[in-house]
Amino acid sequence: MADGHITYTSENLTEAVLDRIRPDADPRIQKVMTALIRHVHEFVKEVELTPEEWEQGVGFITELGRWCDDKRQEVILLSDILGVSMLVDAIAHRTHASVSETTVLGPFHRENPPVMKNGENMSPGVEGEPLEVEIRILDADGNPLEGAQVDTWHTSPEGFYDSQLGDEHNMRGRFVTGPDGVVAFPTVVPAAYPVPHDGPVGRVLAAMGRGPMRPAHVHFWIKKPGYRDLITHIFKDGDPYLHDDAVFGVKASLVTDWEASKAEGKPARLTYEFRIPKADAPLNAAKD
Ligand code: BEZ
Ligand code: FE
Repeated sequence: MADGHITYTSENLTEAVLDRIRPDADPRIQKVMTALIRHVHEFVKEVELTPEEWEQGVGFITELGRWCDDKRQEVILLSDILGVSMLVDAIAHRTHASVSETTVLGPFHRENPPVMKNGENMSPGVEGEPLEVEIRILDADGNPLEGAQVDTWHTSPEGFYDSQLGDEHNMRGRFVTGPDGVVAFPTVVPAAYPVPHDGPVGRVLAAMGRGPMRPAHVHFWIKKPGYRDLITHIFKDGDPYLHDDAVFGVKASLVTDWEASKAEGKPARLTYEFRIPKADAPLNAAKD
């Protein structure tokens, strides 16, 4: 070996890469990149990644990017099915028990949904089992919040979002709460449905022997100036996919019985009280 040269091996390469991070780099960058490099190197060593597999991986990531456009976000979908999105959510929202729980946004929210008045039918022309939705938006102490903006969206009874059926907006709306904090509207019962699985992420699910289904739910994105946004869904109790959600988005507090009202001869009914924290309410301290 010639003097002054070094050979990188599987034993010394990780430390050599870490040593190149400059001590005056931004502290958060140092922390994140150190952990990322360590874990990626550990992964490569643990599975003894072959050059062919490395090439396949590069091809896969390139393909993920190619599938993305303004209607499809394959990178977020990969994060979702690997449980990374819900892990980030779980860490970011270790909040006080008095506020409602969050879950994934998903790719089907649309900007500028139809603006609706309380009581307006959110699914005009859609045939299906009627569902009455009535939610209340409260602060963390249980006081009703007036003027909260509520975007809500769900699938058709066949399990398709409007954007999967065409350009028309349907089964979605933007409501604003009155003085009682209530938003109420008739719609139809949505169905369990598969996450988009005709692309590279679908191949990963299939290769792992996993299904693409999500249990039936209604999405809510609640915004009120001075309060933290709440992005969540309410799931239908009894759905067979509650324990097999492809994106791990189910939380027990977000599952409700929509059918109890049917025992009294009334339509299915989704009711929920959302409690949202003030924007400056302390989160459980991050660990750095
Ligand atoms: C959704 O609930 O709309 C969704 C969430 C994550 C991935 C795909 C769909
Ligand atoms: Fe959804």
